[in-house]
Amino acid sequence: MSARLLIGGLALALLAGCEGRPAPTGLQGDPARGRIALAQHACRACHMIPGLTGPESYVGRPLVDLAERRFIAGKLPNTQANLVRWIRDPKSIDPHTAMPAMGVSERDALDMTAWLLAPEQ
Ligand code: HEC
Repeated sequence: MSARLLIGGLALALLAGCEGRPAPTGLQGDPARGRIALAQHACRACHMIPGLTGPESYVGRPLVDLAERRFIAGKLPNTQANLVRWIRDPKSIDPHTAMPAMGVSERDALDMTAWLLAPEQ
């Protein structure tokens, strides 16, 4: 068997192994559940969010392309853990922010960030 065939076969085997699994984004949480949690907590009242319908609201910035942001609310380095922190208790990070703490559980916040950082559009 030629080396080229061998390598091709290996690549196919690797691809087959990945079939049906989500892209390896390194994110924790369940994005589908997160989308529901975002709707249930009415985040859409202040933010436009990809994949969620609601009023045209610009109280907070649209939560689009969140994965591209360097900082959350201009304060915290944008990591999934910091996003969870912000969503659960924004005033602990910026006492003057207009965003209220909305009693979001750790699990819901994690799932929300999974959606916000990689919305399935
Ligand atoms: C009453 C309006 C209001 C509600 C409701 C609200 N937010 Fe916000 N949110 C804001 C405002 C205003 C900011 C901007 C804060 C700043 O820059 O200081 C913000 C900032 C954010 C940011 C940082 C965005 C960025 O551009 O850096 C995230 C993420 C966020 N909100 C997520 C949520 C989630 C998730 C919910 C629902 C649990 C939610 N927000 C509910 C008003 C709101």
